[in-house]
Amino acid sequence: MRLLVTGGAGFIGSNFILYWLKKYPKDFILNLDKLTYAGNLENLRSVEGSPNYEFVKGDICDGKLVLSLLKEYKIDTIVHFAAESHVDRSILEPAPFVKTNVEGTVILLESALKAKVKRFHHISTDEVFGELSLDSEDKFSENTCYSPRSPYSASKAASDHFVRAFYTTYGLPITISNCSNNFGPYQFPEKLIPLAITNILEGKKVPIYGDGLYVRDWLYVKDHCRAIDLILHKGKVGETYLVGGLTEDIPNIEVVRKILRIMGKGEEWENWVEFVKDRPGHDRRYAIDWSKINRELGWKPKYSFDTALKLTVDWYVKNEVWWRRVKSGEYREYYERQYGE
Ligand code: NAD
Ligand code: DAU
Repeated sequence: MRLLVTGGAGFIGSNFILYWLKKYPKDFILNLDKLTYAGNLENLRSVEGSPNYEFVKGDICDGKLVLSLLKEYKIDTIVHFAAESHVDRSILEPAPFVKTNVEGTVILLESALKAKVKRFHHISTDEVFGELSLDSEDKFSENTCYSPRSPYSASKAASDHFVRAFYTTYGLPITISNCSNNFGPYQFPEKLIPLAITNILEGKKVPIYGDGLYVRDWLYVKDHCRAIDLILHKGKVGETYLVGGLTEDIPNIEVVRKILRIMGKGEEWENWVEFVKDRPGHDRRYAIDWSKINRELGWKPKYSFDTALKLTVDWYVKNEVWWRRVKSGEYREYYERQYGE
């Protein structure tokens, strides 16, 4: 395959590129990334200079650039990760979410159609379905109605609708995956798990929104990469697949307590958390029914939450230079040193 990966310098995109090039060394990947605050080329140092990998700094909203890259590199498959991805940022400033997540996706779709790519895979989120209540055992499935509640999820919902519209209207060969909360190596420390680990390593308290009883469905990023792999190889064009983890309704406060236990601070956990003002419109609970991708493609998560959390804590402990540079903003100098302006 010759893949265009958008947003490949971000958390999931860089994990996906490393996964794919290791498993399929004969394939070629072009990584198109704007390098916003969330894009970090240091994640991809190990593949830099490989003959089957290239990076282009650019914006998915630049249709001329996207089309010329698709043609020049003879791309047959697009895996679209690029997005503004943080809910709290979308609450502070929604417009960039509309620009990249909605307009950028439409521009990519138009370019994909013109270049006649064989597959456009869109990475989306379970947040498009809204929230579940704490006292139900309901889960999101491929049949759940869309009900986004934050500017971020509204923009992702709009992008999903456009992707499906390009399939029904123009016959573009698309697939979509809506996954739950990823965690693992290279995650920007603005999201709960890496924020908690790095704060504790810095001797700072972990901010817990509201009552701390919000529930997420945690998915180790490597399991997510395996799911995308299967969808690209065996998924049915036009279909959507939900991807989730093995967690059983663990509230945020318990996630942080687990991290503190792994870090040897379980006994004194109350000293390490700080209950802060809640996120407006905070979705109470997410849970994913991933039986369709299990039944049709044979996927299931390999990593239990506890195992993956331990691996993640270990990674941040070992990669202190990486997260300290990210937290201080120094990582951005790397691009200038490496590539110039
Ligand atoms: P991230 O914020 O870590 O990375 C996003 C990447 O996209 C960055 O490298 C950034 O520079 C790039 N980017 C942003 N705007 C761009 C533009 N206009 N043109 C080109 N590149 C641009 O995000 P992530 O957590 O890796 O998420 C990747 C995708 O997965 C997103 O589409 C997100 O909505 C989706 N998703 C994420 C999660 C999660 O838990 N992280 C869960 C479900 C779905
Ligand atoms: O569900 C998938 C989504 O997961 C993705 O689509 C998003 O891109 C990704 O950012 C993530 O969204 P969340 O809002 O669920 O993730 P976040 O890590 O920001 O928050 C997880 C939970 O922890 C949520 O209930 C809010 C809470 N939280 C978060 C932060 C940053 C806190 O209590 N304190 C914090 O400081």
